[in-house]
Amino acid sequence: MRVQVLIKEEQGHKTTRREIVLNIAIIGAGYVGLVTGVCLADIGHKVTCVDVDKQKVLKLKKGIVPIYEIGLEDLLKKNIKNKRITFTTSIKEATKSSTVIFIAVGTPSKKNGDADLTYVENVARQIALNMDSYKLIVEKSTVPAETGKRVARTISLNLPKKHKKDGKEKLDFDVASNPEFLREGSAIEDFMNPDRVVIGVESKRAEEILREVYKPLDPHMVVTDINSAEIIKHASNSFLATKISFINAISQICIHIGADVLKVAEGMGYDKRIGKKFLNAGIGFGGSCFPKDVDAFIRLSEKSGYDFSLLKEVRNVNENQKASFVKLIEDKLWIVKNKVIGVLGLAFKPDTDDMRNAPSIDIIEALQAEGAKIKAYDPVSMDNSKNIFKNIVYCEDPYALAKGCDCLLVLTEWDEFKDLNFKRLKTAMRQPIIFDGRNLYHNKDLESYGFEYFGVGRGVL
Ligand SMILES: NC(=O)c1ccc[n+]([C@@H]2O[C@H](COP(=O)([O-])OP(=O)(O)OC[C@H]3O[C@@H](n4cnc5c(N)ncnc54)[C@H](O)[C@@H]3O)[C@@H](O)[C@H]2O)c1
Repeated sequence: MRVQVLIKEEQGHKTTRREIVLNIAIIGAGYVGLVTGVCLADIGHKVTCVDVDKQKVLKLKKGIVPIYEIGLEDLLKKNIKNKRITFTTSIKEATKSSTVIFIAVGTPSKKNGDADLTYVENVARQIALNMDSYKLIVEKSTVPAETGKRVARTISLNLPKKHKKDGKEKLDFDVASNPEFLREGSAIEDFMNPDRVVIGVESKRAEEILREVYKPLDPHMVVTDINSAEIIKHASNSFLATKISFINAISQICIHIGADVLKVAEGMGYDKRIGKKFLNAGIGFGGSCFPKDVDAFIRLSEKSGYDFSLLKEVRNVNENQKASFVKLIEDKLWIVKNKVIGVLGLAFKPDTDDMRNAPSIDIIEALQAEGAKIKAYDPVSMDNSKNIFKNIVYCEDPYALAKGCDCLLVLTEWDEFKDLNFKRLKTAMRQPIIFDGRNLYHNKDLESYGFEYFGVGRGVL
């Protein structure tokens, strides 16, 4: 695809309209980078994806997707075949062949909650070292406000001497923010049909190019400055986390008063101002985004002189949900030591193999510390969880899992758990008890099979 944009001439400061080829590079081929790359290729762009992980790049070149994401492998194969997407470990190669460069590397939490931007800085420096014509560098990773400015500064500082005159850049570039809102498990659908595309830009040229990139999707575009775009992402994730913690706090009241949080959420959710989504009480949020983005937003607020105590409480409520679930299990099992506990679901949410910050980690470790013997089954995340847990017996299906168990825990609400053969499960178990951390079942249904059933915030049973 070609697009006409204003480019500063190398001689002097004259600006003229020039045609550029809109090739795209994506640095970081993880959950976000890979989906972004494949989808942008599918809507007609020529895309080069870069990753430092050689094994990952080798697999991707062969059309093998190293993560679990519905539909991604088919779309990848299709776009490899029509030559719209390629993979490399070389940022140099990708920088030279592209005009638009998306940075989609990880931004994990530091111990103090700050976002660790080491990978972002590293990539910005390498882009600078290899630039030889105009580039638009786009932050796709979730980053704190003011990162755009720092990326621009890193690029200026690291441009080779040949691209500078009297200390000033001769080579033109823009930095922009384009936060990603896709959800693992429905990532392609989310990318292809976004509620909105947010772009934070500081030049008309960057805006024009990004509008061109997303044109085939015809999305609602929110155009703003870079800082505001960066804040939109942190504020959105923090708001959703707050909604989850809000209903989880209500669930605690329901237990003590004797009310059913499912009914409370239903009654609230029909109000269009509130909405039904993110009102599922349970063992709390996890994953690679909400916990780290809430932490990073709290830290950013602190640095700007504001104590975001509301978000600190969101985090506390979330931690408490896991702790009170473990307490409930300890109370009802009486003696935890040597009890066999079967865990249905390990991933932080259904339809993904992502184990980052999954609530199952804290819950299983707490029960193991009490001497429980853990068996587990998850449809797709057992391979990933083998790097996290010690001393777990993995099972091939829920029925093998139930064999000899003193209780079952539902920690991920996979669809396939909704419709199990409860008669078969009960026969296999030593004690028929279910702790439902995701409120997947109805107490009356399970009690009719002879189970003792405990959900979250289901005070009326
Ligand atoms: N996962 C999500 O659902 C989601 C959604 C929206 C936004 N985000 C944000 O997107 C960013 C990426 O998240 P992710 O889940 O895709 O992470 P990820 O860990 O799955 O992927 C990051 C990739 O970057 C690669 N990488 C690291 N340094 C590199 C370098 N110097 N050059 C090339 N590749 C490099 C890693 O090898 C890895 O494959 C994060 O900031 C995250 O907060 C994630």
